[in-house]
Amino acid sequence: MLLLAGCGITGTEPNPLEPKGSVAEDQLFLIKLSLGIMIGVLVIVFALFFYVLIRYRKRRGQDDIPKQVEGNHILEIVWTVVPLLLLLVLAVPTVYYTFKFAEDYREHQDALQVNVTAHQYWWEFEYPDYGIITAQELYIPVNKTVSVDLISADVIHSFWVPALAGKMDTLVGMNNHMYFDAKEEGVYKGKCAELCGASHALMDFKVIAVSQEEFEAWVDKMQNPGYAIAEDTSQGQELFKNKCMACHAIDAGTPGLGPNLTNYADRALVAGFRPNDSEWLHRWIDKPDEMKPGTTMPEVPLSEDEITEIVNYLQTLK
Ligand code: CUA
Repeated sequence: MLLLAGCGITGTEPNPLEPKGSVAEDQLFLIKLSLGIMIGVLVIVFALFFYVLIRYRKRRGQDDIPKQVEGNHILEIVWTVVPLLLLLVLAVPTVYYTFKFAEDYREHQDALQVNVTAHQYWWEFEYPDYGIITAQELYIPVNKTVSVDLISADVIHSFWVPALAGKMDTLVGMNNHMYFDAKEEGVYKGKCAELCGASHALMDFKVIAVSQEEFEAWVDKMQNPGYAIAEDTSQGQELFKNKCMACHAIDAGTPGLGPNLTNYADRALVAGFRPNDSEWLHRWIDKPDEMKPGTTMPEVPLSEDEITEIVNYLQTLK
């Protein structure tokens, strides 16, 4: 853990035992409740087992058969009623929370709607109320319910932000729904939790919980990027238009085959898991399949210099 503690840009390590949202807190309560009951039963059963083993063991010189007992109403009632009570204690909150987690916030006035589309191997986030499409970084306001619709563009993936909420599968052609919130500002790591191909392990994303004002500023910046057109990146811009724009849009309102790159330079990571600097960006464009095996991003025929031009241009997108 200490080794990983320095990775500021990737956020805190995902940990469902340290919930930072109300859904994750409720889920941890259920985990603790069932674990507590299980450990309690285990301890009592083993204690009785060892007590009987020792107390009624065969002693030296003891050859007669001990007194045989058949049927005991009190014991039978006890071992029927106690598990029944334990099951009730487990079942009532489980059923309650199962219905609570299934609540639909899509039409809810105070909820932020986000449509998530999972791709091999990246995450697309659409904010229908703001006309924003982005990828890999899910900005949300703190203390606000986020209503999430999930689908997949190719195979089954699973959306999981351990500190905020349990997993939800993303399926092709079938919409799954969930909701969560974040009670503290911060960067929460998300993962794909369903084996989906060669780069499943690299299919990370982040939930970035910020204040309402910061969220609105982010929305405004996504809607009006206002990139500074620097003279020395015009060649890269031209190359990007010709070679990359068939898949990658740079305005947040336009969908595309690949991740939307609006304000790309503001993102912390390349391909979702490497520092977003010239070196890694260069490697990613040069040999996408080496960085992320099985990626649908093709190896575009470009010279080293051309890649450098594109990298320089992409870094002005902020
Ligand atoms: Cu997507 Cu695993």
